Amino acid sequence: MVSFFKESLLILLVGFFPIFFIIPSAALNSNETGNGATISLLKWKSTFQYTNPSSPPLLSWKPDSKNSSAPPCKWQGIKCNQHGTVVDINLRSVGIKGKLSNFDFSSFPHLLGLDLKNNSLYGTIPSSISNLSELSFLSLSKNQFHGPIPNSIGSLRNLSVVLLYANYLSGTIPPSIGNLTRLTYLRLHYNEISGSVPAEIGKLSSLVLLTLFQNNLGGQLPLEMNNLTQMKRLFIGENNFKGHLPQQLCLEKFTAPSNRFSGTIPKTMKNCTKLMRLRLEKNRLTGNISEDFGVYPKLEYVDLSHNDFYGELSWEWARFQNLTKLSISNTRVSGRIPIELAQARQLQEIDLSSNHIVGVIPKELWDMASLRVLVLDSNKLSGNISIDNGMLYSNLEKLDLAANDLTGSIPSQLGNCLRLRDLNTSHNKLAGGLPLEIGNLQSLENLDLSRNLLVGEIPPQIGEMLRLETLNLSHNELHGRIPSTFDGLLSLTYVDLSYNQLEGPIPNTKAFREAPEEAFANNKDLCGNATGLKICPPESRKKIDGKKHNMVLILSIITPCLSVLCVLVATLIVFSIRRGRKRQAGTEGNRENESGKEEEETLFAIWSYDNKMLYENIIESTDNFDSKFCVGEGATGSVYKAELPTGQVFAVKKLRSLQDSEAATDLRSFTAEIRALEEIKHRNIVKLYGYCFHTRHSFLVYEFFERGSLGALLRNDQQAREFGWIERLNVIKGVSNALSYMHHDCSPPMVHRDISSKNILLDSEYEAHVSDFGTARLLKPNSSNWTSFAGTFGYTAPELAYTMEVNEKCDVYSFGVVTLEVILGSHPGGFISCLSSRSATTSTADHILLKDVVDQRLFPPTSQVAEQVVSAMKLAFECLSSSPQSRPSMNQVSKQLSTQKQPPVESFLSVTLGHLFNLEC
Ligand SMILES: *[C@@H]1O[C@H](CO)[C@@H](O)[C@H](O)[C@H]1NC(C)=O
Ligand SMILES: *[C@@H]1O[C@H](CO)[C@@H](O)[C@H](O)[C@H]1NC(C)=O
Ligand SMILES: *[C@@H]1O[C@H](CO)[C@@H](O)[C@H](O)[C@H]1NC(C)=O
Ligand SMILES: *[C@@H]1O[C@H](CO)[C@@H](O)[C@H](O)[C@H]1NC(C)=O
Ligand SMILES: *[C@@H]1O[C@H](CO)[C@@H](O)[C@H](O)[C@H]1NC(C)=O
Ligand SMILES: *[C@@H]1O[C@H](CO)[C@@H](O)[C@H](O)[C@H]1NC(C)=O
Repeated sequence: MVSFFKESLLILLVGFFPIFFIIPSAALNSNETGNGATISLLKWKSTFQYTNPSSPPLLSWKPDSKNSSAPPCKWQGIKCNQHGTVVDINLRSVGIKGKLSNFDFSSFPHLLGLDLKNNSLYGTIPSSISNLSELSFLSLSKNQFHGPIPNSIGSLRNLSVVLLYANYLSGTIPPSIGNLTRLTYLRLHYNEISGSVPAEIGKLSSLVLLTLFQNNLGGQLPLEMNNLTQMKRLFIGENNFKGHLPQQLCLEKFTAPSNRFSGTIPKTMKNCTKLMRLRLEKNRLTGNISEDFGVYPKLEYVDLSHNDFYGELSWEWARFQNLTKLSISNTRVSGRIPIELAQARQLQEIDLSSNHIVGVIPKELWDMASLRVLVLDSNKLSGNISIDNGMLYSNLEKLDLAANDLTGSIPSQLGNCLRLRDLNTSHNKLAGGLPLEIGNLQSLENLDLSRNLLVGEIPPQIGEMLRLETLNLSHNELHGRIPSTFDGLLSLTYVDLSYNQLEGPIPNTKAFREAPEEAFANNKDLCGNATGLKICPPESRKKIDGKKHNMVLILSIITPCLSVLCVLVATLIVFSIRRGRKRQAGTEGNRENESGKEEEETLFAIWSYDNKMLYENIIESTDNFDSKFCVGEGATGSVYKAELPTGQVFAVKKLRSLQDSEAATDLRSFTAEIRALEEIKHRNIVKLYGYCFHTRHSFLVYEFFERGSLGALLRNDQQAREFGWIERLNVIKGVSNALSYMHHDCSPPMVHRDISSKNILLDSEYEAHVSDFGTARLLKPNSSNWTSFAGTFGYTAPELAYTMEVNEKCDVYSFGVVTLEVILGSHPGGFISCLSSRSATTSTADHILLKDVVDQRLFPPTSQVAEQVVSAMKLAFECLSSSPQSRPSMNQVSKQLSTQKQPPVESFLSVTLGHLFNLEC
C-alpha cells in the first residue's frame, strides 16, 4: 500500500512538475541542440491557455530529460515514420485552446496528416501552412478560426481531404484551390465565406464531396462545376446562389435548399437513378414534376417544397421502395393523391400541403404502417375521411388535414392512433359529433378542430388527454357544458372555444382562467373566473343537468312501472364522500365559491338515502345505455363506462336477459350471494360495488379499469408490444392469486366458471383484476337453470362437454388457456388440441422451439425472465391436462409461480415444447 502510494507520487512528480515549471523555462531555451519537432511542439504547447489548469491536456508532451534530441514520437497524438520523423498529428477533441500562429509548420516537412478538429483554436489559418508540403489530410473543423482560407493552401498539391467546417472563416474561396487536383473531400460548411464559387473549382477532377452550405456564398455556380464528374455528394444549401442548377450532374446526394436557384431541373436528373437524397426546397425552380423527374429506386428523402413546380403526383411510386420522406408543399402541384403513393412502403413523412390537390384522401394511406407524419392541409381535398381498417397499426404522430373541403364526420378510428401528437382538421366542413374515441389519444398535444360544422356536446373523454397543450374547438356548433373532466387538463396552455353554443362554468384551470376574452366569445352562456365572463350563479356547479330533458321523458315512461331494488355497498358511499372531499381539498385553493362544495355533499347525502337517485344517475351518465358508452360486450351482458356527477368512473354491467319481471324476482333471491361477493377484497379481483335490479334495466356496478381487458390488449399489436414479459408474468401471477384466493381462502369456496382473457382487466400498471367472479352463473342469458354452465368457448374444460359437474378444476383449465394466450400472444386454439393427444405428438413437440411459438411481437425473454416464462408455460400445460384430477390446484400454481427459484434454463432459444412436457419440478 505504502509503496503503491510512493509510486503514484513519483508519477505525479514526474508527470506534473516538469510541465509546469521545468519545460517552459529550460527546454525552450536550449532549442539549438534539440529535435526540431519536439521543440516546436513544446513551444506551441507553452502558448496554450488552460480552461481548467487542474487537468491540462497533453500531459505526455514533455522532453526526454536524458536526450533533448529525442523525437516526440511517443507523445499523445503524434506518429512518426521509422526514421523518427513526425508524419501525423492527431489532436482531435483534446481540449486545447490557442492559436496556430504559434505553430512552426516548417518543422514538419513530411507531415501527412494534421487533425485538430473540435478544439478551441482561434485566430487565422497562417499562410505558412503551405510549408506542410506533403500534407494529404487537413482538418481544422469545429474550432473558432477567423479570417480567410489562405491562398497559399493551393500549393499543398497532395491534399486529398480538407475539412474546415464549423469555424468563422470569411473571405472568398481562393482560386488557388483549383491546384488541389487530388482533392476528394472538401468541407467548408458552417462558415462565413462569401463571394462566388471560383471557376477553378472545375479543375478538382477527383472531388467526390463538396459541402458549402450555410455560408454567405452567392452568384451563379460556375459552368466548370459540370466538369466535376466524380462528384457524388454536393451540399450547397442556405447561401445566396442564383441562376441555374449545375446542368450535367448526376449525384447521389444533392441538397441546395434556401437559395435563389431558378429555371428547371437539369435534364440529367431524369435518368439519375443513383439519386438517394434531393433537397431543393425554398428556391424558385419551376417545371412539371411529373415530366422532369424520373424513377429513383434509391431515393430516401426528397423535398421540393416552396418552389414553382406544377404537374401531378404521377410518379411510379411503387418503385420508390426506400423513400422515407416526401415533401412537395407550397408549389402548384395539382391533381389527385394517387392511390399508388401507399405503395412506397417506407414512407414516414408526407407533406403535400398548400398545393392545388383535389379529390379524396385515398383510404390506402391510412394503412401505411410506417407513416408518422401526414400533412395535407391547404389543398382542395374533398369527400369523407374514410378509413377502412381500424388504424390499429398506425404510427401517426402528426395529422394535418386543415383548410380543405372535407365533409362527413371525424372518423372514430383516429382514436386508435395512440402516438398522435398533433391533430388538425380545422377549416373544413366536417359535421357530426366529436368522437369520444379521440379521448384515447393519450399522446395528443395539439388538437385543432376549429371552423367545422361539429355539433353535439363535448365528450368528457376529451378531458382525458392529459398531454393536451392546445385545444381549439372554436367556430363549430357545439353545445352543452364543458365536461368536468376538463379540470384534469393541466398541461393545457391555449384553449379556444369561441363561436359555439356552450354554456355553464368553465373549468377552473390556469389555461381557462388566463385565456383571453376571445377564447370564449360568442357562446350561449359560459361563466366562470376569466376575463369577459360573468361569475357563475351558485347552483351552476351542479353537473348533472346535461340531458335533463331526455331524462324527464325517459323517467316519465318508466316511473309507472318503477320497481327498483338498488343496493350500493356502504363502501361506495363512504368512498365517494372521501373522494369528494379529497377532490375539494385538492382544488380548494383555486375554487373560490364555497357553495359548490356544499352541493357535492348534498349530492352524496341524497344517494345514501335514495337508491333511485343512483339508478337515475347511472342511466343518465350512460345516456340510457347508449352504445357510445359501451366499452365491452360479452355473452353475459354489455359493459358501459359510467361517469357519475361526482367524477367517479364505474364499469356498469347491464344484464341482458331480464326483461320479464319473473327473472328479476329470481335474481332477488341471489341478493345474499351478491352481498357476499361485495365483501371480497383482493387486489386481483375486480371490486363489485353494488347492483340494481329493475324491471327495465338491471345492472352490476364494478370498479373501472382504463386499460380494458387482457384479450383486447393482446389483439392490439401496438399495445401488445408494450406489454413486456415481466408484465405478462405479473398478469399470470395475479390471475393465479385471485383464483387461489377464491378457491382456497373463501368459505365456501367460490368457482369463477368463466375465466377468459375477456374478463381479466388490467390497470395502468398491468396488474390483473379478475372480473365477474361468481356472477357468471347469474348472468347466463335465457337460462332458468342456474346450475347450468356459463363459460366462454375456447376456455372451458373438456369434461364439461359430458358433465355439468362444475368444480374449481374447470377454472384451473381455463387458467391454463389464459396463460398460454398471454405467452403466445393470442388464443392458443389448435395448439391445445395438439396437446390433448400429446403422448402421440411428443416427438413432434421435440422439434418445435418455444421461441418460435411465443409472442413474436416481443423479443425473446432472457435470463431469469426466460426461466419464469418456461416455468409458466410448463404449469399451463399441467393445467390443461384432460383429466381434472391431474391438474394442479390453484394454490399449487400460485405458490409455484411466486417461487423465486425456477429451474435454470440453459438457453431460452433452444428450449423445445417436448422439453417442457418432461421438465421435472
Ligand atoms: C538521442 O536521440 C537521438 C534520436 O533518436 C539518437 O540518435 C541518439 O542516439 C540519442 N542519444 C542518446 C544519448 O541516447
Ligand atoms: C495555384 O493556383 C494559382 C491560381 O490559380 C496559380 O497562380 C498558381 O501558379 C498555382 N500554383 C501554386 C503552386 O500555387
Ligand atoms: C471541362 O474540362 C475539360 C477538360 O476535361 C475542358 O476542356 C473544359 O474546358 C472544361 N470545361 C469547363 C467549362 O471548364
Ligand atoms: C434517359 O434514358 C432513356 C433511356 O435510357 C433515354 O432514351 C433518354 O434519352 C435519357 N434521357 C436523358 C435526358 O438523358
Ligand atoms: C434500400 O435500403 C436498404 C437498406 O438501407 C438497402 O439495403 C437497399 O439496397 C436499398 N434499395 C435500393 C434500391 O437502393
Ligand atoms: C382557433 O381557431 C380559429 C379558427 O381556425 C383561429 O382563428 C384562432 O386563432 C385559433 N385560436 C388559437 C388560440 O389558436
